[in-house]
This record gives sequence, structure tokens and C-alpha cells, in this order.
Amino acid sequence: MKIIRAKDYNDMSRKAANIISAQIIMKPNCVLGLATGSTPIGTYAQLVDWYKKGDLDFSEVTTVNLDEYKGLTRDNDQSYYYFMNDNLFSKVNIDLNKTFLPDGTEPDSNKACSDYNKIIADVGGVDLQLLGLGHNGHIGFNEPGMAFEAETHCVDLTESTMKANQRFFASMDDVPKQAYTMGIKTIMQAKKILVVVSGEDKASIVKEAFFGPITPKVQASVLQLHNDVTLVADEAALSLVK
Ligand code: F6R
Repeated sequence: MKIIRAKDYNDMSRKAANIISAQIIMKPNCVLGLATGSTPIGTYAQLVDWYKKGDLDFSEVTTVNLDEYKGLTRDNDQSYYYFMNDNLFSKVNIDLNKTFLPDGTEPDSNKACSDYNKIIADVGGVDLQLLGLGHNGHIGFNEPGMAFEAETHCVDLTESTMKANQRFFASMDDVPKQAYTMGIKTIMQAKKILVVVSGEDKASIVKEAFFGPITPKVQASVLQLHNDVTLVADEAALSLVK
């Protein structure tokens, strides 16, 4: 695993965006696996900036996102589709027909998940997967204890994840209780993985996930077994790592 130490959040965002840009420049028709959450917002903003300066072209890029809440429509401002459109898709020259997320409006979980697995297979798999890291070590919505063998599946969100998400919703009752997520098996099949982490509150999980034992209790620990992982984290997130 490669660790890139960034000064702060902005530096982390720039360094991560550099890696994604390199991927797009080297392979203009690449498949990017994308994440939502607060950590990658700066990375997307930097990519948009470089696009506006004429340094990046998204016209041939395909994207597949990690996850989507079950039950939210694309126009719900808390859906991950809305987030992606708001932070990236609507601001660059990406072909929206080549942007994919699990279909949160599909009530049949088996169908939603098998459809998404097929989409990922049909686009030829992920070249570069961007990941954030949850406080409990989750990646995507793969919560502690989930089998590493899982492909896209429907998860019941844990109490701690629902609490962390609460800040985005009017009340706890509005927080979705289930989500569709790529599984660990799907994530591990990406050719390259880029993890972005920022902040002191993530320092102990960074240490556990990347320097502790590989265990389903800390889902991100499985990344230690992938042969092309880059962790871009700021000083605060790396403060417990020598
Ligand atoms: C987002 C996702 C989540 C987040 C994680 C960290 O698509 O799958 O695993 O990456 O919860 O979220 P933030 O960046 O908000 O701390």
C-alpha cells in the first residue's frame, strides 16, 4: 500500500484529484468507481476546476458509484445520485448515460443488486475506485461483520451509520434504514483503489484498518490484501501512524 501524507484537507483533495486526473489522461475511456460523503467533496471540486481550465475531459469516462439509499428517488436532495450530480456530473462534460448508481427506487433488492452487478460487468469492471472510510471502518455501506465475499447487496444500516447520516436529514425518522452497496468482493476487483481520509476523528480507524489485523470487523482492513491501494490522508488522520 502506498501512503501519501497530505498537509490538510485541501492538500489531500488536490493530491487525490491528481491521481484521478492521471487515470483519465492515461485512459480517457476509463471506468471510475466513485464515493459520496463529505471527504471526497474537495476532490470533486478540484476535478471540476481542472475541467473548467481545459485540463480534463470527461466525455469518454464511465462512472459507477459505490452505493445508494434504498427508497430515495434521484431528485431527493439526500440521494447519492443528487450528490454526484451536484458535485460532479452537472459540472463537467460527462455523458450522463455513462454514470451509474444502484437504483434506489427499485423495491426488489435482489433485482436492484443483480442489475447493478451486471452493469459493472458490462462496463468491464472498475479501473480506479475512490473510497472514503467510515468511523467504524466501513467502505461503501459494508458494515462490520459483513462477509468479504459479498457482491452488490442490500444492507440494513447500523445505528452508528444512521446517526452519522442524521446530520443530512430533518429528523432520525427520515434517515433511510437500508441501502444498496457494492460488496467487498466488487470493490476488491477494482484494478486500483484510492482511499481518501481526513481529520483527527479518523486517526484511530486509519491505524486499525491499515495497520491492524485483517478482519470483517473492520471492513477496510481487507484493502491490505489488494495489490494497488493508495491512501491519501492528511496529517490529522495519520497522527497515530508513524
Ligand atoms: C459513500 C460511502 C461511505 C463513506 C464513509 C465516509 O459513498 O460509501 O462509505 O465513504 O461513510 O464518509 P465521510 O467522507 O462523510 O466521512
